[in-house]
Amino acid sequence: MIAVFSGTGNSLYAATLLSRALGDRLVSYSPDESLPQPSDGRIVWVFPVYSWGVPPVVEEWIERTECGGLNHYCVLTCGDDAGLTAGQWRRLIERRGGRACSVFSVIMPNVYVLMKGFDVDTEAVASLKLSRVPSRIEDIALHIEAGEEGIDDVTRGSFAWVKSRVIYPWFKRYAMSPKPFHATEACTGCGSCARHCPLHNITMAGGRPQWADHCALCLRCYHQCGAHAVAYGKATEGKGRYLCPTPPPAASIVTKSV
Ligand SMILES: Cc1cc2nc3c(=O)[nH]c(=O)nc-3n(C[C@H](O)[C@H](O)[C@H](O)COP(=O)(O)O)c2cc1C
Repeated sequence: MIAVFSGTGNSLYAATLLSRALGDRLVSYSPDESLPQPSDGRIVWVFPVYSWGVPPVVEEWIERTECGGLNHYCVLTCGDDAGLTAGQWRRLIERRGGRACSVFSVIMPNVYVLMKGFDVDTEAVASLKLSRVPSRIEDIALHIEAGEEGIDDVTRGSFAWVKSRVIYPWFKRYAMSPKPFHATEACTGCGSCARHCPLHNITMAGGRPQWADHCALCLRCYHQCGAHAVAYGKATEGKGRYLCPTPPPAASIVTKSV
């Protein structure tokens, strides 16, 4: 079974290709439902890296999942580097009694835009990153299929310890508030942000979106708004938008084994 949390679609893209390669069932994050027990004893967790760590929403998901007696794998998607996210995921799984077998990262288009100096990739960079995903996933699937353990094939980047052990806890505490989210004058009241929020954290009141406080900061609401009317304080002024396309049908993807 493949368990995926995805805000802007990158992790869903990777998980869909992985599900085709492994023949495993894909189950998306739900705030209300628990994961079913996998029939083959294996869960592959696919999710984005948030501030060089496991997103709190995924930590909470693992904590309410029956992990004991199962083999667990992890595929992290990130814009650049994952720091020490792999070790953090291993500890979460082992604390729940699961066997944390192997971890892999996949570089995908960046979606974080909430701080100075952070923006989406140019179209050229985003499509180059996406073009490399199918062969990377095919490679990862071979390792998982073979049941390999002890692999940490993750792009950690520089200063990994500082990023994951100092910045990540700071980020979780001080930089994940949904309070700065608001709709600008450009909002048409279409409700698309509310319909697409993976945590059902947005409701419409008087034709305007309202954010409650169980937000994953996945930025789905910001990136999917066709009117570019979702803002985060002033941090998103002048920033670009990105949504991952759905993967093309299997037959049209050229991979190294073709
Ligand atoms: C809150 C937040 C924090 C992020 N932190 C990192 C990071 O530390 N390193 C990185 O390479 N990418 C980071 N990113 C980018 C995402 O990990 C990357 O774009 C991912 O593929 C998005 O996956 P999704 O489309 O499935 O949500 C961050 C994105 C968000 C929204």
